[in-house]
Amino acid sequence: IVFLLDGSERTGEVNFRRAHSFVEEVSHRLTLARGDNDNMNARIALLQYGSEREQVVIFPLTYNLTYISEALSKIKYLDSSSNIGSAIIHAINNIVINPQNQQRAARRNAELSFVFITDGITGSKNLNEAVNSMKKQDVMPTVVALGSDVDMDVLLKIGLGDRAAIFREKDYVSLSQPGFFDRFIRWIC
Ligand SMILES: *[C@@H]1O[C@H](CO)[C@@H](O)[C@H](O)[C@H]1NC(C)=O
Repeated sequence: IVFLLDGSERTGEVNFRRAHSFVEEVSHRLTLARGDNDNMNARIALLQYGSEREQVVIFPLTYNLTYISEALSKIKYLDSSSNIGSAIIHAINNIVINPQNQQRAARRNAELSFVFITDGITGSKNLNEAVNSMKKQDVMPTVVALGSDVDMDVLLKIGLGDRAAIFREKDYVSLSQPGFFDRFIRWIC
């Protein structure tokens, strides 16, 4: 599961913190892999994306909760604009594929899931190219769109046309509410 977290200025510092607490809670709830050879359980990664050239891999695919917590405690909010297309391409080239050896870091038969956490408004440059790369890598998308001001065209594109994959919630506070949280966990599992 690769989380793509919108670090744009529209999000705001407090909401940004709510979003990374959400990632941490999800990592505690899921059964993460127990070691390098555990092919049954989950690994997660987190990318914070901003404008076209600002993408930060907060942590690559891992099952190590200590490492996840440490990386999250050091996360710095980009507070920029955001462009989702470049974020997707960056995630594929740096998280799904290991940039050191160009091998796929995500295991072959593992279901690869991208979870977008966004306020719903983001640039759409390179979006078609990005969506094609997602399809090529067999990515299952989930879109968590927060706030009332969303760009449904963009959300549907990154959701690969599947409305059921789009969770629309009122605000970032919803992320920690059991109603949403449990629905999200059931969906992602
Ligand atoms: C998990 O991460 C912590 C912190 O980075 C590290 O000290 C520890 O060795 C890691 N554990 C495993 C099993 O890789």
